[in-house]
Amino acid sequence: MNILFLGDVVAKSGLTAVLHSLDRLKKQYAVDFTIVNGENAALGKGITEPIYQALVHAGADVVTLGNHAFAKKEILNEIDHCPLLVRPANMEPTERGQSYVIRRCGNKKVAVVSMLGQAFMNTVTEEPIPAMQKILSEIKADIIVVDFHAEATSEKILFMYYFHNDVTAVIGTHTHVQTADERVYEGCAFISDAGMCGPYESILGRDIEEVTKGMVHKTKTRFLPAKGPSIVCGAVIRIDDDTNRAVSIERIQIRPGAPSS
Ligand code: FE2
Repeated sequence: MNILFLGDVVAKSGLTAVLHSLDRLKKQYAVDFTIVNGENAALGKGITEPIYQALVHAGADVVTLGNHAFAKKEILNEIDHCPLLVRPANMEPTERGQSYVIRRCGNKKVAVVSMLGQAFMNTVTEEPIPAMQKILSEIKADIIVVDFHAEATSEKILFMYYFHNDVTAVIGTHTHVQTADERVYEGCAFISDAGMCGPYESILGRDIEEVTKGMVHKTKTRFLPAKGPSIVCGAVIRIDDDTNRAVSIERIQIRPGAPSS
């Protein structure tokens, strides 16, 4: 089985790029199952039901979230109508939405889990390792993929070593910068960060002038998302159908203007 994971979709430009490239990527990599992190898809922060529906319609099997899961307040009421949307397990408000989804893919059951790291995250309700242990005690699936949404690479690497026997892949998100440390450790695929699907000429997807105003000149700014074409980042994980363990992970990074193959 081949699983495509696309990193944080940022704003309209990132959403447009993902909606336009999903079909081609799925054919190019013979993808069986697609996971998209959509936590920044609505104006750069949060998600709405129409955006979730657009991602599913374009071919996402599961849409994951992160620390900005509930940035758009309407999603609090909409999330129960979004059965393929996964919010972090260890984040307030814990009573809304679901922290994992299990879907059939051929003759396999694929579970997708969303988990937050602790560093620089102010909405975390529980440490990720006990939170994951609880989920593992509930899940019955052939393949388990964790979107580990965190700032610190050390937390992501620790999580992978701790759970590598229990899960098929740990894919880091949140920093918006793709790392080059993809690997398979004893059947568990890992990358510290899949990178973003968002405006390329930007600061993590935000408008460069807006960030400069706020951080250098200390003037009030809304840190609006940048405009312009997006980079598309993610990874393809290949899984052995006999063992349900990962055999490879390949980074994807398509910069604006790059020829499509
Ligand atoms: Fe995030």
